Amino acid sequence: MSVIVDRKNAHLRLCAEEDVEHRGTTLLEEGRLLHEALPELSLDDVDLSTEILGRRLAAPILISGMSGGTAEAGRLNRALATVAQKCGLGFGVGSQRPMLLHPETAESYRVRDVAPDVLLLGNVGFVQARDAGVAGVAALAEAIGADGICVHLNAAQELVQDEGDRDFRGALDAIGRLVDELPVPVVVKETGSGLAPATLARLRALGVSWVDVSGAGGTSWTAVESLRGTPRQRALGAELRDWGIPTAASIVYARREGLGTIASGGIRSGHDAARALALGADAVSLALPLLRAFAAGGLDPALAAAHGLVEGLRSVALLTGCRRPSDLAKAPRVLGPGLRAWLA
Ligand code: FNR
Repeated sequence: MSVIVDRKNAHLRLCAEEDVEHRGTTLLEEGRLLHEALPELSLDDVDLSTEILGRRLAAPILISGMSGGTAEAGRLNRALATVAQKCGLGFGVGSQRPMLLHPETAESYRVRDVAPDVLLLGNVGFVQARDAGVAGVAALAEAIGADGICVHLNAAQELVQDEGDRDFRGALDAIGRLVDELPVPVVVKETGSGLAPATLARLRALGVSWVDVSGAGGTSWTAVESLRGTPRQRALGAELRDWGIPTAASIVYARREGLGTIASGGIRSGHDAARALALGADAVSLALPLLRAFAAGGLDPALAAAHGLVEGLRSVALLTGCRRPSDLAKAPRVLGPGLRAWLA
């Protein structure tokens, strides 16, 4: 357990303080939206509310799963869940792996008392989901009152970690069983390397209906792991730092596959959120900016960051003449050559 606690605390500190982002971009900046100089809307007419996985959000924005399992992580979860409740956003807890071995750590993931109305997502790694089976994963979701569970895919991170998993066989079947048998919906989620068309087609064939693309351009878990561990881990992490499919491309791939699409990986502003929605996302999700805001000063800066995101998204919706988030999917845009190459 102490290995996991040390690792979790190291991850939070590294993400809060060090340069851990991809050096490449999300390519969202290549999805430029055309300005509407005569929007014929009042800002109050813009209604960002959206239903995602059975819950109505005030805006199509989620706070991504980051942590749990330690006292420090529990404080982060409660603060960010409070932000989600106050702003009407969704919220995910981080990997519930520690709960599988140590059920007493459940307390650090429980946020329903401060966030009774939020869309709440549980979280488990694909290797742990395979090994814990349907009953084990169902118990994780139930223990925290989650509306759904993210099964995260993190092969790149595991390969870099000295102590990481090396055998990823059987995960696809395990996801299929979860989709068939869990009482809550499954969101298949990457962790910063994006989802390719063929991967998305296999997920859809299994009956998966929601993905979080978590593409390249934001937090890089290979970069995080390159900042700790042995020389081997540091070298491989540095080599694979920019591995992955840019977020903008992954959004379009997921939309083409007809999947409910949460866009994460390098969403840093309401403007980024608007561009992701225009490319076909149903909602966006952010991790690093909320962690950093909380690390800088607790609840108030995190609340301010969330308010800023909503204001930015509302402003861009007005400036493109869009009354509703779903209208952004039809907003006129100009795609740059880098993004077009990924989409060809
Ligand atoms: C994460 N992320 C993550 N994802 C997941 O599915 N389970 C997890 O336990 C974690 N843990 C975690 C910790 C910290 C500190 C960060 C910053 C991120 C990944 C996260 O949910 C998201 O997919 C990526 O970070 C990309 O989004 P950003 O950070 O670029 O906005």
